[in-house]
Amino acid sequence: MLYSEKVLDHFSNPRNVGEIENADGVGEIGNAKCGDIMKMYLKIDDDKITDVKFKTFGCGAAVATSSMATELIKGKSIDDALKLTNQAVVEALDGLPAVKIHCSVLAEQAVRAALSDYYTKQGIDPVPIVGEIKVPEEE
Ligand code: FES
Repeated sequence: MLYSEKVLDHFSNPRNVGEIENADGVGEIGNAKCGDIMKMYLKIDDDKITDVKFKTFGCGAAVATSSMATELIKGKSIDDALKLTNQAVVEALDGLPAVKIHCSVLAEQAVRAALSDYYTKQGIDPVPIVGEIKVPEEE
């Protein structure tokens, strides 16, 4: 089987799909090569991610990785969310085929983009905290 049970599960039954009205941070990331787009919404109270929702227009792995990314950061502190790597998302899904690793990077960067937006909205320069948002073009 190319995809793990967990990937198939998160693809067919994605968690936290939707939008948050008046979100504290919204991030949208697209990969120019495959054309997939992810949008991530965060509700943040006292430096804690109290709610997160996503919308992904993309491949099955993009849906599964965004779903898992939301599960991994929900209820966590901003600091923990900033530490979320695409490898952690891949591990939590019991792996992804090599050609689908870029989908997990999209999920990682969508979270970071939403955190960037959160800081920008507070009048804080996000770059020293969140870093530059990078979208991988490869594979
Ligand atoms: Fe591009 Fe999956 S093929 S995000």
